[in-house]
Amino acid sequence: MRGKFLTFEGADGVGKSTQIQMLADYLKSLNIKTKITREPGGDVVGEKIRALLKSCASLDGICELLLLFAARRSHYVDLIEPLLREGYWVISDRFYDSSLVYQGLLKNVSIETIMQLKQITIGDFEPDLTFVLDLDISSSTQRIANRSLQFDAYDEYDRMDAEEQRVIREGFRRLVDIFSWRMVLINAAGSREKVLSRIVSKLSRLSE
Ligand code: TYD
Repeated sequence: MRGKFLTFEGADGVGKSTQIQMLADYLKSLNIKTKITREPGGDVVGEKIRALLKSCASLDGICELLLLFAARRSHYVDLIEPLLREGYWVISDRFYDSSLVYQGLLKNVSIETIMQLKQITIGDFEPDLTFVLDLDISSSTQRIANRSLQFDAYDEYDRMDAEEQRVIREGFRRLVDIFSWRMVLINAAGSREKVLSRIVSKLSRLSE
């Protein structure tokens, strides 16, 4: 049986990677074959493009978009689609919704251009379910600050000011309204266990 494709979206610092790992452990405990991946990245080409993007802080929006969709197509063709055919549930840390928000809203690339590239590169393929983790900006900023202290990381590419963070948060919230057939908004505040239980409670939508 074909697997399911689940994606996680949201601003930086909302706790995606923790929840993805916890959800994967939960699915494995149900004997569901599960693989975690991420964008940009996931396969060999995608990871090379990720490194390229991360080393170029001030790329023009269209250049960035073309690189992201090249990475996305490679990720889809080489990794996601074969795993789904083998029956795996694939969980991706970000997918094309991130392009709609980051390149569309922050870098002013038109939504039409983004959807055209989406159609060219992955056609009608869509996630079966997308979790948008939503957290107030002061909490996500605090989590990023803690992470930076922990890993001594200063990542120019991921650095956003308060206004940009507001645009990102609002952008994802709007997407949930537009793509309500496949997207759910998850309150990312509270303990990790509480957030996971909110996510797990939405899995029933997969069989609707
Ligand atoms: P993320 O994996 O959340 O960052 P990290 O693991 O380094 O903390 O995402 C990397 C960055 O890439 C993030 O700032 C959002 C950005 N991004 C886009 O701008 N467009 C996209 O289509 C994707 C997938 C990511």
